[in-house]
Amino acid sequence: MGGHYDVIIVGGGAAGLMCALTAGHRGRRVLVIEHANRVGKKILMSGGGRCNFTNTGATPANYLSANPHFCKSALARYTPWHFIDMVERHGIAYHEKELGQLFCDESSKLIVKMLLDECAAAGVRVETSCSIEKLGHGDSDEARFRVHTTRGNFSAPSLVVASGGLSIPSMGATGFGYELARQFGHAVLPTRAGLVPLTLSGKHQERLADLSGVALPVTARCNGASFSNFMLVTHRGVSGPSILQISSFWQPGDDLRLDLLPGHDALETLQQWQRDRPAAELKTMLGEVMPKRFAQRLCEHWLTSRPMKQYNAPQLREIAAVLSDWALVASGTEGYRTAEVTLGGVDTDEVSSSTMQSRRVPGLYFIGEVVDVTGWLGGYNFQWAWASGHAAGNAV
Ligand code: FDA
Repeated sequence: MGGHYDVIIVGGGAAGLMCALTAGHRGRRVLVIEHANRVGKKILMSGGGRCNFTNTGATPANYLSANPHFCKSALARYTPWHFIDMVERHGIAYHEKELGQLFCDESSKLIVKMLLDECAAAGVRVETSCSIEKLGHGDSDEARFRVHTTRGNFSAPSLVVASGGLSIPSMGATGFGYELARQFGHAVLPTRAGLVPLTLSGKHQERLADLSGVALPVTARCNGASFSNFMLVTHRGVSGPSILQISSFWQPGDDLRLDLLPGHDALETLQQWQRDRPAAELKTMLGEVMPKRFAQRLCEHWLTSRPMKQYNAPQLREIAAVLSDWALVASGTEGYRTAEVTLGGVDTDEVSSSTMQSRRVPGLYFIGEVVDVTGWLGGYNFQWAWASGHAAGNAV
């Protein structure tokens, strides 16, 4: 069952499979070790089952990392168009949803099948339900890494860590990659859940909880970042694309602000309502530009609701300030249970940005989410997985 390979890849997710097929096509003997019963589980569940597999507008500016330059080289050498080319060669139909986000027309299963077909054509061996019992560092260059697993003992001169982050433990996520990095002397930057719903507590929670399911467009701002998209009120707090995006920039205690009239000057809008509809109440006017129940709740607890003509200029300015800069006091996040990604991870300082190889341990590579590179919502995380997997696959 065991054997010797040119490269052993731990983790059969997006990055691991891309690395495997790239190295395999170069004639490398490749083994992928996956502890779950099937590969690519996160690909399967992604994009609501349709996998938002890339974003045509992906640039390094769409990624968070302690070193924002680290992702540049890999992203420049494997662009969204390289992946789109593979998708088209495999006859997978896709469409653009919004803002460059590409989704499969049918099912994310087709992306996993494509990656597995490419791996098979490249002679890659994929072992699923295979758990690592012991990982040793050999002394000869040929067998630098010795991996004892439930499916045999393997050795290789190169080991690629593609075991992902901590989000969705029920799908096989583990801290394996971080532990292994530490074992080999690598620094691991603090990890936390990203692209995750925020929870509210106290008055905010009490005032909004029964509006669960209500969605409205907002611009969410925190720590210099700003995202305009929908916000969804949930039983425990808030979610939706604008909140998921801003959650990666938010930490407990940080000031989080929402513009509830995105794209409009709030004061000008109020003044216009006063001129055009002087007898209409504020809640009625707000209810025409946002869900009525939300408008009503806003007026009950954060504003007032009188006929527009009764507000004087300073009062209109106060209302405008609340509408354009509403302070949302989040108490936390829903954590790794529902987070799409893990922020932080293996410090890029000791990893080559062109090959993903460790600068400490020859033959050791880190790719995908385990590295301290995290994309925005919208296909950017898969693009990083493909690009970093491709970089390592060309170097091993
Ligand atoms: P990934 O998690 O894909 O793979 C790691 C693999 O390693 C897993 O198969 C795991 O089982 C395995 N593993 C872990 N520990 C191991 C061990 N000790 N031994 C062996 N194997 C081990 N991104 C995007 O761009 N577009 C999208 O539409 C979505 N949608 C989305 C939805 C949901 C619900 C989630 C949770 C996430 C997304 N993402 C996303 C994020 C995206 O899924 C994520 O960034 C990539 O899958 C990361 O790829 P990796 O290969 O690094 O990890």
